[in-house]
Amino acid sequence: MTILGIETSCDETAVSVVVGAGGLREPKFKVLAHVVSSQIKLHAQWGGVVPTLAKREHSKNLIPVLKKALGNAKLIRVKDSASSVRCLRIESWKAKVEKILAREPELLEQFLKFIPTVAVPKIDVLAVTSGPGLEPALWVGINLARALSIVWRKPIIPINHLEGHIYSVLVLSINHKPRVKKPLRFPALALLISGGHTELTLVRDWLKYATIGATRDDAAGEAFDKAARLLGLPYPGGPALAKLAKNYKLKAEDYSLPRPMIGSPDFDFSFSGLKTAVLYRVNNLKKTGCFDDAARAALAADFQQAVIDVLLSKTSRAIMKYKPKTLIVAGGVSANKSLRRQFAKCLAERHPAVRLLFPEPKLSLDNATMIAAAGYLRFKRSSTLTNVQPLIKADGNLILS
Ligand code: KG4
Ligand code: ZN
Repeated sequence: MTILGIETSCDETAVSVVVGAGGLREPKFKVLAHVVSSQIKLHAQWGGVVPTLAKREHSKNLIPVLKKALGNAKLIRVKDSASSVRCLRIESWKAKVEKILAREPELLEQFLKFIPTVAVPKIDVLAVTSGPGLEPALWVGINLARALSIVWRKPIIPINHLEGHIYSVLVLSINHKPRVKKPLRFPALALLISGGHTELTLVRDWLKYATIGATRDDAAGEAFDKAARLLGLPYPGGPALAKLAKNYKLKAEDYSLPRPMIGSPDFDFSFSGLKTAVLYRVNNLKKTGCFDDAARAALAADFQQAVIDVLLSKTSRAIMKYKPKTLIVAGGVSANKSLRRQFAKCLAERHPAVRLLFPEPKLSLDNATMIAAAGYLRFKRSSTLTNVQPLIKADGNLILS
């Protein structure tokens, strides 16, 4: 079946078209289109994501992104009077769509220009992120899905963004063939590390979750972003800080930052103290006139290592306690190469029976392919979807359940 995924939970406007095949025992995915329009440049001026700006940008960019995704998937068929393709007459849906998109005037205008010109694409279902994330931003994607659902008569599956990150590891950009047979064996443990979340979640079976630990303050990605800012790096800080740290070889005397909660008996995290420690170090370096490139690189490397040490240590302990067969590491911070290397090494040495799965690097960051993939799995489990318009709501604090 073909799924159209929509993701607007933060600062990426994304639409994907994914074909899902196989049952829940061995699902396979083929990506027909993967389009992401990033708002990074806009938010960089403010040093972080501004929710109202994010909403406005989604509203402006969603139709162009949708158009591109449908085009890439070769699903655009232009309607003409002779065409026999089924499409509801505009009069039958215009009033409803106007109501749904009343708060997104730019989106509505583009919707009314584009949608009536194309035939109903060959998709089976829409999957849209309903949370967690920035509510004003989430609503834009949800409202587009609702409007499309009415015009195209397709059901909608609301998807938890974190669930999308978890199953991002199953998607290969090329085709249906998974790297290994049955890549996901349960129970699995998922370490979700992004700009908004840091969680250790037990995945007992498909779509069955129990979160065993989470950050008590800042998320890992947020800590990267804040530390990067203190180091004078642009937003988003994660990739910039990783780049600065890359060529610095840490020496024993560089390890000056704390590893918060590394020894605590639970599976929770805390990163705000680490950021404060970076602030003190930066202030000291500035005071003594030593805040040069070498000192910044050393501090970046120390910070990155402190985050990795904590994540690795807690994950390793969770593996010992819960004995998962698979470890999934996903979310924006999982793009970090040093983190990937160190997790691979640790698992090979200490937990060789556990299969380690990372998403393809471009699927570490927010995208709609992972939302479509999760939509396929949800569909496979329920398969009772009707064309009835579900009452989907944005929930900024949606938890995995
Ligand atoms: O999953 P994601 O794209 O968005 C959220 O759901 O939050 O994650 C974005 C986060 C940002 O905080 C960004 O700085 C971080 O992921 N990030 C990285 C790297 N690439 C992105 N952090 C460390 N190293 C990276 N290479
Ligand atoms: Zn994310």
